[in-house]
Amino acid sequence: MPYELNQFIDDVKATLRRDPGPAGRETVRKNLERLLENKDFVASTCGEDAPLGLKVLYEDKDLGFQVLAHVNDKARKSPPHDHGASWAIYGQATKHTDMIEWERTDNGGAHAELKEVKRYRLNPGQAGIYQDGAIHSIDYPDRARFIRVTGTNAWSWDAPFSYTAKRYKETGDASIIWEGHKAGREIGYCHMEKLSNLDALPDHGFKVACFPVKIERASAGWTRAVAIVEE
Ligand SMILES: [Fe+2]
Repeated sequence: MPYELNQFIDDVKATLRRDPGPAGRETVRKNLERLLENKDFVASTCGEDAPLGLKVLYEDKDLGFQVLAHVNDKARKSPPHDHGASWAIYGQATKHTDMIEWERTDNGGAHAELKEVKRYRLNPGQAGIYQDGAIHSIDYPDRARFIRVTGTNAWSWDAPFSYTAKRYKETGDASIIWEGHKAGREIGYCHMEKLSNLDALPDHGFKVACFPVKIERASAGWTRAVAIVEE
């Protein structure tokens, strides 16, 4: 009997309830490799006929984890980054992904200096973990596809207000309020959050227009974000 997605999801739930830490994630990684042995599952989610783009296969409202199919068409080499308190497990379906981990060699200033500390290749059927806080990058060729389990769909660019309020009460450190947003004072950037229907988009090749909404006496606001996909 092949190991099916719904069994995998049940196992992830049971495992993360018991142990949400690194050991629990290692069990999830092994189970993901078991799921990748299911040829029908791999063909239907990541095969030649699977629609291109990112597909959410499952989202757990209680535990926060997501199971995603990355049906890539073109090669990609991501810049080094981390996911804060979240973690990610990559399970290779087709071709390969190079998993690279980095460490900071500076003393924590605004500009990070990095050195590569770990590199390994995931071939089909193999899964690898980036633990929370790990600075990492990925590098894969055309048509490399994978199933990814991620610890949380990030709440926002900054931590949820309730956590920031608690930390501020404990430390009295006002610099943690809108910490992420303040980064824009040093390096200009754009960010959008809480977008919906992203799973309906291809992984590249579209334009995004953000139509403004006029709000009186406000310093920020929402936007009507529209993706324009040329046929
Ligand atoms: Fe990442």
